[in-house]
Amino acid sequence: MVRIYTIDDDSERYIPVTLDTLVPGTQIPFEIFTHDGTIYKSLLDKGSTYSYFAQKMIEHQALSRFYIRQGSALSFNEYMHNADKLKGMILDPHFFEAGYKEFRGKWFVIDKLVLNSGIDFTVPLGGLRFPLYGEIPFIIDCDSAYRLLLDLNSDIAIRKRDIDAYYAYLDAVLDAENIDDPLLKIRARREKLKVWCYRVHEEAGNGAISADTLLKLFKHISIVMTLIANDFSYAGKFLHFDVSDVFLCIHSTNVCLMSLMHGHVMNMDDASLLNLGIAAMLHDVGRVAIDENATENSSDEMEREIYKSHVVLGKALLDSCKDVPKAAKEVALTHHEREDGSGYMFGLTGDKIHPFSKIVALADTFETQRVTGYNQSFMKRTKILEYLVLNGHRFDPEVLKTFLRFVAGLAL
Ligand SMILES: [Fe+2]
Ligand SMILES: [Fe+2]
Repeated sequence: MVRIYTIDDDSERYIPVTLDTLVPGTQIPFEIFTHDGTIYKSLLDKGSTYSYFAQKMIEHQALSRFYIRQGSALSFNEYMHNADKLKGMILDPHFFEAGYKEFRGKWFVIDKLVLNSGIDFTVPLGGLRFPLYGEIPFIIDCDSAYRLLLDLNSDIAIRKRDIDAYYAYLDAVLDAENIDDPLLKIRARREKLKVWCYRVHEEAGNGAISADTLLKLFKHISIVMTLIANDFSYAGKFLHFDVSDVFLCIHSTNVCLMSLMHGHVMNMDDASLLNLGIAAMLHDVGRVAIDENATENSSDEMEREIYKSHVVLGKALLDSCKDVPKAAKEVALTHHEREDGSGYMFGLTGDKIHPFSKIVALADTFETQRVTGYNQSFMKRTKILEYLVLNGHRFDPEVLKTFLRFVAGLAL
């Protein structure tokens, strides 16, 4: 059973309403209760979103009737008055985009399978599943609620303000001696790395990355680098592609991990490998400084140009941090350059492009096609590799050959 807290004040008067009066995707301006015959329990907080997930969870509990406080009658009437308009609005893409943007601003998408450890996790979870979005204002206090989210095949997110609690949970998973599943520990390691990437990006967004946060990020890159080198058969399991939209720290972590694998199969020495990992992790840091609407494939030329500027902005951001390796600054600036001169910002060719940028370019292209965003479905690995071969003139032939070979063999 799902529950937030219990209301034991029966003296208050409640009005019954039916479930289908609520419009999924809308904010509910009153608190909603269930009644089990003796007590009223709070089900949805005032102001929370009656999301697609909330609807499914309530349906799952076979509740068709619930209650509002009599004092909420006015806001309920007003809500009903607007209900039809609201139904029309949530089908309006602009309304959807605005709501979704808010979701992106507040929530942090996690690897849902990392919660499958048996260790208590009492942080509120949000669900994200296209084309509808929403949050679940419930504390997941039982296995079945979490299972239901998995059944819905939704992405699962936590509020950004709960990231520290999530991090503590990840530590508990790594410390647990009774967890035999090596994949769970791999997931927890990757998630910790992702959290450090997120923290660095947050600080970069505020204009300055602290030396302390950077060093923590480097430390976690180094740990994962050693794990990949020690047992390459599990390497593919570090990657996280099963998300329905593009999130910068998931993207950067995947690109970092793939670049580490690439460096490893090239027999790179440890110092170079760590520098490559750092460079790959920070390659898109400039994206924190540009408008989120600006994308590489935007139909608006101005937006495409704004997107391209992330390479210059990233280099400038990293130039202001003394602990960042030189190669990382170079990669931030040149990871969109292509072998035949067809890339940006400078149209560099061949040897003029830093060798790390050539590696990151491939991981970056692969990752971007694998996780394409909510309006497209992801491409299969073989299709992406085919695409890379067809566009072979854009990549260094030796680097491409190594990439194709190890990616084709990864157990994802
Ligand atoms: Fe980029
Ligand atoms: Fe990228």
